[in-house]
Amino acid sequence: MTNASPSSVRLTGWGRYAPSRVLTNADLERIVDTSDEWIVSRTGIRERRVAAAHETTASMGAVAGLRAIRTAGLEPDDIDLIILATLTPDYWMPSTAALVKEAIGNTRAAAFDVAAACSGFVYAYATASAYIASGMARHVLVIGAELLTRFLDYADRSTCILFGDGAGAVVLSASDEPATPVGIELTTDPQGAYMIWLPAGGSKSPPSAETIARGEHKIRMEGKETYRFATRTLASTSLAAVGKAGWTQDDVDLIIPHQANMRIIEAVAKGLNLSMDRIFVNLDRYGNTSAASVPIALAEAVNGGRVKAGDKLVFVAFGAGFTSGAVAMEWTADPARGPIGDAAVNPDDVVVRKPVDWDSVDPIPPALAEVMRRPLPVDLDLSDVAPGEPARATHAAR
Ligand code: UT7
Repeated sequence: MTNASPSSVRLTGWGRYAPSRVLTNADLERIVDTSDEWIVSRTGIRERRVAAAHETTASMGAVAGLRAIRTAGLEPDDIDLIILATLTPDYWMPSTAALVKEAIGNTRAAAFDVAAACSGFVYAYATASAYIASGMARHVLVIGAELLTRFLDYADRSTCILFGDGAGAVVLSASDEPATPVGIELTTDPQGAYMIWLPAGGSKSPPSAETIARGEHKIRMEGKETYRFATRTLASTSLAAVGKAGWTQDDVDLIIPHQANMRIIEAVAKGLNLSMDRIFVNLDRYGNTSAASVPIALAEAVNGGRVKAGDKLVFVAFGAGFTSGAVAMEWTADPARGPIGDAAVNPDDVVVRKPVDWDSVDPIPPALAEVMRRPLPVDLDLSDVAPGEPARATHAAR
């Protein structure tokens, strides 16, 4: 890493990757007592992506990260720091960022993971900004990647319908251009520590036959408390970041919120007195992808023509901890670069190092595997599939 003089920070690259397997609400009706009508009306989610057995958080993060590097017009070795936000790492150790470093063909970056649950990408973004602003790094790859479908309780209908898999990334770069306004706000409220949590597997309760029998390796959530926290916090955190940038909410062109629940997003719009056309939503197609949700949404918003140079954007997220974070920033990059970065990276060409003399068990949870074995006659035409991915997404049952 460099130790140059302090610089202004620019977002120069963005990219995303979503597994091609789709799990619809109809699929979930075959696992738990739920309905498409309930899920759509209470959450806005229609489908989510599920990683295939050969995919991991690192493999998805590497594809998104490499796309962001290509969008920025950089080579992998231009990156001197990789920060990866996730609550579903490939292993407890090494860090998932270390695996990504090799998979993208980088030989010189420092790499580490950040744990701040669904706010993780915003926390990682803030960390990357600080590295660049201080002169400690010139190009930082920031990734949010999650493989949540392997950590869900498929007997708990209030959580298993919410989450999906995917990855998004940005490159932040030092710039000699004058600094553009920026505001960053991060909060942590440990009173919510056990509102969304995964009880066992850590040092408090190491993995054992008993923790498995007690179902303690799956995500647990107090939905109502989390909902209340989210609606309260998203608006206040956004406003704090906007204020630090020297703007008011009327100046903001587009808010890219954590994609958790449509009702939460609508409440935030109301709280900020903004119309929904200034808020980007794609949760109907991905569900809640935790730390990946904001960078996936950002890449789709930019590539979909929703962002132009000079626009004032806010990224805002909340999650376990409770944590929340918001970044207010001015967009300076050429949006046309996004599809170029996507097209430059074929997911099959990105390979994560495997352990020697060790194979994991089949990673797909039995309830999900069962649904995947029984195809539904669904033929989904996904116009958003990025170049290099299958032109037609496959239904979960493949
Ligand atoms: O990244 C952060 C992650 N977390 C969140 O963002 C979650 C925030 N919370 C939420 O989004 C909502 O609280 C949920 C979507 C999780 C739940 O929605 P809700 O409107 O708060 O429902 P509820 O928990 O009050 O449950 C209402 C009813 C209950 O039935 P009874 O007791 O009234 O008979 C639930 O058992 O809905 C039932 N229910 C379901 N019914 C059909 C809960 N989940 C389901 C389901 N299908 N999937």
